[in-house]
Amino acid sequence: MIVGVPREVKEHEYRVSLLPVGVEELTRAGHQVLIERGAGVGSGIADADYERSGANLCDAAPEIWARAELVVKVKEPQPHEWPLMRPGQHVFTYFHFAASETLTRAVIDSKITAIAYETLAAQDGQLRLLTPMSEVAGRMSIQEGAKYLERPQEGRGILLGGVPGVEPAHITVLGGGVVGSNAAKVAAGFGASVFVLDTSLERLRYLDDVMPQNVTTVFSDRHTIVDQLARADLVVGAVLIRGARAPRLVKRSDLALMKQGSVIVDVAVDQGGCVETTLPTTHGEPTFIIDGVVHYCVANMPGAVGRTSTYALCNVTFPYVLHIAERGLQHAAAENPGLVSAVDVHAGHVTHPAVAETFGLPCVAFS
Ligand SMILES: NC(=O)c1ccc[n+]([C@@H]2O[C@H](COP(=O)([O-])OP(=O)(O)OC[C@H]3O[C@@H](n4cnc5c(N)ncnc54)[C@H](O)[C@@H]3O)[C@@H](O)[C@H]2O)c1
Repeated sequence: MIVGVPREVKEHEYRVSLLPVGVEELTRAGHQVLIERGAGVGSGIADADYERSGANLCDAAPEIWARAELVVKVKEPQPHEWPLMRPGQHVFTYFHFAASETLTRAVIDSKITAIAYETLAAQDGQLRLLTPMSEVAGRMSIQEGAKYLERPQEGRGILLGGVPGVEPAHITVLGGGVVGSNAAKVAAGFGASVFVLDTSLERLRYLDDVMPQNVTTVFSDRHTIVDQLARADLVVGAVLIRGARAPRLVKRSDLALMKQGSVIVDVAVDQGGCVETTLPTTHGEPTFIIDGVVHYCVANMPGAVGRTSTYALCNVTFPYVLHIAERGLQHAAAENPGLVSAVDVHAGHVTHPAVAETFGLPCVAFS
């Protein structure tokens, strides 16, 4: 199979979807790997490293899109990539369809097979390909929140851990999954006073067992959310309902309850955000302020720490890339049913129930 890796083109996206070791394994197995020149530079991987591992370097992305049977990417295809997608081509990447009807329709019209990292559920139900990026984004959310709480960045001028005699920051984490638990762990390490809200009592029980003393678990409902918003210096949005738009837990009118200069880091922005005022931002211009509340809503947070993120991502995606290349998607999906859950759009039809429901489109099972 011909596997293609175009350079990521989303603003300030420094990740790449394949490591040199992956190129070596694919070529050893008899596949051809096309890599766009400069694709690995943002992650500290030189063209020569890929070449040594057996890749063919291409000068421009259109050549890769034209030749590759399987295109492996990191972020969803950007508008100027849409005309390059070819019917029957497999594209394996993060799509986050629920956040964009325009993208969804462009992918349906292109008749590619969209294999979405974020909906690939392993046999135990875990979203394996979302996990490492959620770990990165969760840890980063506190790093970024701490920065924007500083006064020169328009924040309240709060040090997360406080100092002896001065109380630490109050941090509210909405959703105690992978992002939320990583955020809570780092925030607790800084000495902040951390509150994690979730609707899953099982999850709250687990977090209560493993988290340090300065992390409190709270059942998530409208009253507890409103109570937390009034007390929080930093709110981290970390909820997820698989394949669906994030529930809007913080309404626009709720901002009036929050302190001036408090910060919201809505990590769930890639699924539409769990805060009504969330709008996707970029690493170039990561924040905006509404009603005195700083909003940080970068949709590709891990992109900023490209090297860490590239290695973390490729560690989990590569076995699927190799499997699809070796067996073809149909056989690979039959042997590994998790792959079926990742096929969100196929041959002009939505094949994932949650994506179909989000846009009121018919769902045709992938087989
Ligand atoms: N912005 C970025 O760069 C970036 C990076 C990685 C992940 N993400 C996004 O972060 C979000 C969270 O991902 P995750 O891996 O932690 O998901 P997860 O499934 O591990 O956790 C989500 C949690 O939200 C909880 N939840 C659902 N409804 C809730 C509610 N009403 N109140 C409180 N909790 C609720 C669930 O019970 C679950 O524990 C996703 O939207 C994901 O796409 C964004």
